[in-house]
Amino acid sequence: MQNRLHSHASPADALVIFGVTGDLAHRMIFPALYGMLKSGALDIPVIGVASAKWNLAQVRQKARDSIRQSSGQFGKIEDPDALDRLTSLLNYVGGDYNDLNTFTALKQALGNARRPAYFLAIPPALFPTVMKWLAAAGLTEGGRVIVEKPFGRDLASAQELNRIALSTFPEDSIYRIDHYLGKEAIMNILYFRFANSFLEPIWNRNCISSVQITLSEDFGVKDRGAFYESVGCLRDVVQNHLFQIVALLAMEPPAYQGFGAVHNEKAKVFQAMRALHPDDIVRGQYTGYLNEIGVAKDSDVETFCALRLFIDSWRWEGVPWYLRSGKCLATTAAEVIVELKPPPQRLFDDSAPVSGRSNYLRFRLSPNSAIALAARVKRAGKEFVGDTRELYLLNDQPSQEPPYQRLLGDAISGDGSLFIREDAVESAWAVIEPVLKTHHPIYPYPPGSWGPEQVDALIAPHGSWRNPQLVNT
Ligand code: BG6
Repeated sequence: MQNRLHSHASPADALVIFGVTGDLAHRMIFPALYGMLKSGALDIPVIGVASAKWNLAQVRQKARDSIRQSSGQFGKIEDPDALDRLTSLLNYVGGDYNDLNTFTALKQALGNARRPAYFLAIPPALFPTVMKWLAAAGLTEGGRVIVEKPFGRDLASAQELNRIALSTFPEDSIYRIDHYLGKEAIMNILYFRFANSFLEPIWNRNCISSVQITLSEDFGVKDRGAFYESVGCLRDVVQNHLFQIVALLAMEPPAYQGFGAVHNEKAKVFQAMRALHPDDIVRGQYTGYLNEIGVAKDSDVETFCALRLFIDSWRWEGVPWYLRSGKCLATTAAEVIVELKPPPQRLFDDSAPVSGRSNYLRFRLSPNSAIALAARVKRAGKEFVGDTRELYLLNDQPSQEPPYQRLLGDAISGDGSLFIREDAVESAWAVIEPVLKTHHPIYPYPPGSWGPEQVDALIAPHGSWRNPQLVNT
């Protein structure tokens, strides 16, 4: 999509990956770079930096291993030429992050590059050090910085991170990645809402009774136990991925054609979200989590949470938003249900609320993309009884560009449309801040379930949870 919604700065002329020997580079960055090379979208030098005493040959081998592992079946490399081109673009600077010599060596490796992109694939605690030395070595002018969520771990740390980043780079040169924003089905929420006119009259508190969003995974924390212990479900996916989906569903129409306007409207949604109260959230932990590697034996970290959220705006006042996410649940899927109010009178015996929902819109976000509109239709026969049927507007298994590849490509080309702005990050933290430390005890749940049974009471005043079905959708 090349249109006026996208914003463009000049493309970067070198990519520097701090933490090139680490996990993020291995899992996400190398596969994304390989994808870009396959599609001919990368031809700038890639300089890895790390404190490990590695040499270039080892970094190249690391890139090969990462791509082989991410290539699925038997690790067969689909495009060996692209892999060779990637390894030939690679360079390596090893050294202590707290030593100006490392940055002087980096300057040399950058040669004539005037607009480097610095990917900070390192723990946030190292950001200030790296920024300080980048500035001291005269490497920040014309540069941009790319960072990965979570941006901080509460409001104060996010503010501090933003302060440090903004003391070195202007806001439009800071690319905060939330890979959900690069997903096809999530980009489609914005398109579907504002490319159609039939939605607007019903898209408010007058017609919508509640909204549910589920992001479920049928696997545990895998080998990320230690990382997960430092975040938990609320910080890992709710404050970012789920809140970004809420913002796209709840925002007002952008005031002009430009992504600045989209950022403005999304930020207003976060500002209008009511700060959570401990009674608004149910936390759960799957049985067996305490035995995962890297997890404390008495861990209180939630692997599941469900919450009730309100957006105090003209459009949404009084409409509850129910969000839930968890590991080791019954299935892996992401889905939104926008529930419309029932008809004003019950003219038929089986009308809502007797037979549950009459009208809703369902957005399936993964593993496939679907948009369905549900309505009641009469069954053949003398009686006035019917069924709820879904009309599909979209039902796809799109062969999409992997979100991470799309976003890294955008950051390199200077398109900030699908990234997160500072004010949105901070307002989103402010919403969950009150429940980060003050919350009810955690409830256990069996792997393969839909979380602890206490979540039913949370939603009971407005119905029940709708679990994503994987049949035909
Ligand atoms: C990441 C979280 O941001 O998103 C993971 O750290 C989670 O815990 C993942 O599994 C989900 O992303 P996706 O694209 O697989 O739905």
